[in-house]
Amino acid sequence: MKFFNSKGFPYHRGRRLRSFDYLRDLVSENTLTVNDFVMPYFVREDNDDPSIEGMKDIKRFSISELLKELDTISNYGIKAIALFPKVFKEKKSLKAEESYNNENLICRAIKSISKRFPEIIIICDVALDAYTLSGHDGIIDEDGKINNDYTIDILSKMAVNFADCGCKVIAPSDMMDGRVKIIRENLEKNGFFDTNILSYSSKFCSNFYAPFRDALGSKKNLGNSKKNSYQISFNNSREALKESIEDIHEGADMIMVKPAGYYLDIIKEIRGNCLVPIAAYQVSGEYCLIKSASEKNLINFKDCVLESLTCIKRSGADIIFSYFAKDAAEWLKQ
Ligand code: PBG
Repeated sequence: MKFFNSKGFPYHRGRRLRSFDYLRDLVSENTLTVNDFVMPYFVREDNDDPSIEGMKDIKRFSISELLKELDTISNYGIKAIALFPKVFKEKKSLKAEESYNNENLICRAIKSISKRFPEIIIICDVALDAYTLSGHDGIIDEDGKINNDYTIDILSKMAVNFADCGCKVIAPSDMMDGRVKIIRENLEKNGFFDTNILSYSSKFCSNFYAPFRDALGSKKNLGNSKKNSYQISFNNSREALKESIEDIHEGADMIMVKPAGYYLDIIKEIRGNCLVPIAAYQVSGEYCLIKSASEKNLINFKDCVLESLTCIKRSGADIIFSYFAKDAAEWLKQ
């Protein structure tokens, strides 16, 4: 018997299955749903600037604005959000003390949100880049190197604070070694047995994070300095799999690949080798590419956004972080 062989024509007409809408839907291998989405938000102090250069239609929200916004997105069915702080310059320091202040911007945001929307899953970024003067995710020693073990102690304090405020998903995005283990141990020690860790385990040293750093206010501080002593080189894929497996052993409940669109091979590889849920982060630079090309009418906005998200899902992602999550959820509802 010959299968899938053009010589079998006319018995094998691939187009039969594509011939009308209902049938196409019936045989669809992947379907995007609102349950897949995480919408990222930048949080600001009330008297800080809301506008973000370069990320059109994305702004920084004060806590009270964010509460209103959450009314809208929960009506669209979005169940999860990720929070990133824009910290005032004066609060940044060499040792990032503000990161573990239990009254900092994110702690206050978690408390207000979980009071008003107890069902919404708040995912909190654990990294120091919003709080350091260097714009790096770790603390820099006198020799100019990032002190890994000192940094992860701070990260674990930060994680416990967030959990204490009501955060159910802690997301370390710093790529320091051993941070998942020490965060997990500290959570257990403090009685937070049910707090999930979503580890940014495959975080590549990508050039597509630039607009995000602007939103966070860390771009100028970082200057030309690179994060390549901790983030993974985009030349590599085995290394990403190794990091994922290690983070799962250290206690991660979910893992992540970031960025998403140019890294679908990585998502697929990890999907085939790991059993935990995988998140993919369609990052700020990916957002800008689609956004600006569609503003110039070079591509159709809605169609390209939905295609990009569906392809991320097809590659094996269970969860998708995307600045388009709100738009997509609204379209899927219609
Ligand atoms: C912080 C962090 C970054 C992003 C998420 N968490 C930036 C970075 O590592 O420099 C990027 C997200 C985006 O570009 O949308 N560690």
